[in-house]
Amino acid sequence: MRILITGAGGAAAVSVWKSLGAEHELHMADMDPLAAGLYLVPPDRRLIIPRGDAAELVPALHKACQERRIEALLPTVDAELAPVAAAHDRFAAIGVALPISPVECLRICRDKQLLMEAVQGKVPIPANEPLTQAAAARVDSFPRFAKPREGAGSRGVAKINSRADLDKQPKDGSVMLQEYLPGEEYSVDVYVRRDGRVIAAVPRDRMKIDSGIAVASRTLNLPDLMQSAIRTAEVIGIRGCANVQFKRAADGVFKLLEVNPRFPGTLPLTTAAGIDMPKLMVAELMGRPVPDKLMPFKELMVVRYWTEHFFDAKEWEAMCRQR
Ligand SMILES: Nc1ncnc2c1ncn2[C@@H]1O[C@H](COP(=O)(O)OP(=O)(O)O)[C@@H](O)[C@H]1O
Ligand SMILES: [Mg+2]
Repeated sequence: MRILITGAGGAAAVSVWKSLGAEHELHMADMDPLAAGLYLVPPDRRLIIPRGDAAELVPALHKACQERRIEALLPTVDAELAPVAAAHDRFAAIGVALPISPVECLRICRDKQLLMEAVQGKVPIPANEPLTQAAAARVDSFPRFAKPREGAGSRGVAKINSRADLDKQPKDGSVMLQEYLPGEEYSVDVYVRRDGRVIAAVPRDRMKIDSGIAVASRTLNLPDLMQSAIRTAEVIGIRGCANVQFKRAADGVFKLLEVNPRFPGTLPLTTAAGIDMPKLMVAELMGRPVPDKLMPFKELMVVRYWTEHFFDAKEWEAMCRQR
């Protein structure tokens, strides 16, 4: 298949390339000519695109897909997901499949408050409410945890240890005030078939994080966690791959933090554990059979290290001219 992957500078796109690069014609796109993943494919398959939140993004992707006769477009950048999904019909009209979740699901994932409301009563969640003056006045115990409804990459998150900490937070409802969850943090990679059936749920412990990426991690067979991740994906209507994050509460229960409705940066561990999600995605796109039941996986650990890719600086200069 001919597939265009965005976010070429990120770990998610490079992970997809590792799974699919040998068998498929991958085109890599990023707004930054220094994005490493661009240089993993031949020069005629590289593309510079506008920012994820720019109005020009969708027209630029649409034009590139048409010119390159792309069959599937795979955005891996959070800000791109909703605008690209909203243009689903325009891409379908030129034969481009979009193997991502529907717009409504992406909207819920973007806003953690909407997510909590959507799964309440169906999946364990931390005690949670939008932070307003009235909500702040009711707080009678610490610690709590504050985070922006629409945050990402841990930006703006804070442990609230005291009234003074609480006073520093905005009270306009843009921040959520939660129960503080002291325990370990797990990510569950799920894969949902196009008919809505969840066929994979792989929990992994994020043991060491560097710049938002897990650099040491292990998969673990934790049935409670898998069930909560599956239920979350079902309730909000995930399609394809998503990464569902949980943290353990003081009472031992895993409670939902957020859902990233895209391929995660630590995908190679899930692949090595026996579930190659990019290959499942391509199999579905090509109309090939994929498993019906929850797929088994191995318990496995990974540590990650840097690698280098060398090339002629003229190739980078050529990408700069595309901007
Ligand atoms: N209720 C909570 N209690 C304790 N820590 C939390 C809580 N919610 C989030 N965190 C911490 O903040 C980090 C970022 O929160 P998360 O919900 O994953 O948002 P994002 O990754 O989009 O910034 C988490 O990885 C976790 O370490
Ligand atoms: Mg997170």
